[in-house]
Amino acid sequence: MRPETLPRLPHAAAARAAALLTAALLAAAAPALAQPAAQPADLEARCAAVDARVVEWRRDLHQHPELSNREVRTAAKVAEHLRALGIEVETGVAHTGVVGLIRGGRPGPVVALRADMDALPVTERVDLPFASKVTATYAGQTVGVMHACGHDTHVAMLMGAAEVLAGLRDELPGTVKLLFQPAEEGAPEGEEGGAELMVAEGVLRDPEVDVVFGLHIAADRDVGTIWTRPGGLMASADDFRIVVHGKQTHGSRPWSGIDPIVASALIVNGLQTIVSRQMELTENAAVVTVGSIHGGVRSNIIPERVEMVGTVRALDEGMRERIHQAVRRTATSIAESMGATAEVTIPLTTSYPVTANDPDLLTQMMPTLEAAAGTGNVHIANAITGAEDFSFFAREVPGLFFFLGGKPLGVAAADAAPHHTPDFFVDESGMRLGVRALVRLTLDYLAQAERQAAR
Ligand code: NI
Repeated sequence: MRPETLPRLPHAAAARAAALLTAALLAAAAPALAQPAAQPADLEARCAAVDARVVEWRRDLHQHPELSNREVRTAAKVAEHLRALGIEVETGVAHTGVVGLIRGGRPGPVVALRADMDALPVTERVDLPFASKVTATYAGQTVGVMHACGHDTHVAMLMGAAEVLAGLRDELPGTVKLLFQPAEEGAPEGEEGGAELMVAEGVLRDPEVDVVFGLHIAADRDVGTIWTRPGGLMASADDFRIVVHGKQTHGSRPWSGIDPIVASALIVNGLQTIVSRQMELTENAAVVTVGSIHGGVRSNIIPERVEMVGTVRALDEGMRERIHQAVRRTATSIAESMGATAEVTIPLTTSYPVTANDPDLLTQMMPTLEAAAGTGNVHIANAITGAEDFSFFAREVPGLFFFLGGKPLGVAAADAAPHHTPDFFVDESGMRLGVRALVRLTLDYLAQAERQAAR
C-alpha cells in the first residue's frame, strides 16, 4: 500500500449496509457453487503445519527489512525456500523479484498469488525482540528501515501457502504462479520497478495467468476478518503539474501585467468544483488535491509564473479519465479568461490504475473467503483513496484483492498505529487466516474450473 493509511472501520450505518451487501453477494454466489469445494480432508492440518514457521519467517524478515528494489536478502530467502520445495524458480525479475511455478499433476488454469516484499524508510519504535535496527541510505540521507506496512507478513504468508500448495501439487488441476514482488512502495528516483515492471517483463505470460489473488494486512482491522468489495477497492493515483504563465509587473500596477497568482487562486478553487459539481458522486468517490503551490518572491512584484502540483484519486477508470479532462479544461480556461496561460501535465512520472476487483470473480470466490474466515468474518469494505500497484496485475487479468485483519482483538481501531508510522504493529496470529485464504482461493478456483470443463 502506498503512503496513505487505511481508513477507519465504517460507522454503524455503513457497516450494516456492508453486511447486507455481503449477504447479497453470498446469496448470489450460493446456488451455483453450493457443491463442496475439492479441499483435501487434511487441509487444516497441512496449513497448521506451516503456521509456526510463517511466524519465524516473518520475524526474520521484520528484523532484516530492505527498501524498494533492494530486497536482495529477502529474495534470496524466498528463492531458497521455494527451491527446497522443488518449485521452479526465476530470480532477478523486475530487479529483485522472485517468481515460482508449481505445476499441478493435472491440466488446468493458472492462478497467480502475489506478495510485495519491500520495507520503508521509517525508524521502528515498537518494543519487540525482533524490532528492526537496520539503517540504509535513502535519497541521500541515512534512514531507519522498517516493515512499516506489513509486507514482511505478506512474504511469510505466501511462503507458507507455497509450501502447502507444493505439498498438494500432484492433485492440483492447474498451475500456481507465485509472484514475490519488489518495490510496491515505489522504485527509488530514476529507477523502474514494482508490479508495472514485472508485467512489462512478462510475468503474466508463459504460462498465461488466468486470475490473480493478493492481500494486504490491515493494522486497524480485527484479526480473523477479511475486507473487500466489488469494483474499485483502492484508487488510481495520478500526479499533475500546472504551470500558470502571466506577465511580470510592479505590485502597485497590476493592470500593466497579467497576475498568475490570482489566476492560480481561481484555478485551485475551480479544481475543487470538478468532484463536487461534475462527478456522479453516488457512483464513486474521487479526490482532487493541490498539494504544493509556488510563485513570487516579494510583496510588490507580481511574478511571471506560478507552479502547482497535486494528485487525482478515482475508483473507476472512466471517472479517472473524466477528471483528467476536467483538470486540463478548468486550468486552461480559467487562465485564458484572465489573459494568462496554463500548461497542464498529467500524469507525471508515477501513476497507478484503480485497484479493481473483478465483480464476477469476487462473487465466485466469496464462499471461499467465508469458508476460510468463518461466517460473519468477511465484510464489504469501504473503498480506499490510497493506491496499490497490485492494480497493474489486476488490469491485465481478473483480480481479487482483500484486506486481512492484523489488529489484536480488544484494541480499538482508533488506537492502532497507522501504516507507514514508527509504531505500526501487526498481530502475527492474523497470518493464519491469510495462509488459509490464499490456499483455499487457489484450490477452489482450480477445482471449480475443472468441474466447469467437465460439464
Ligand atoms: Ni503496503
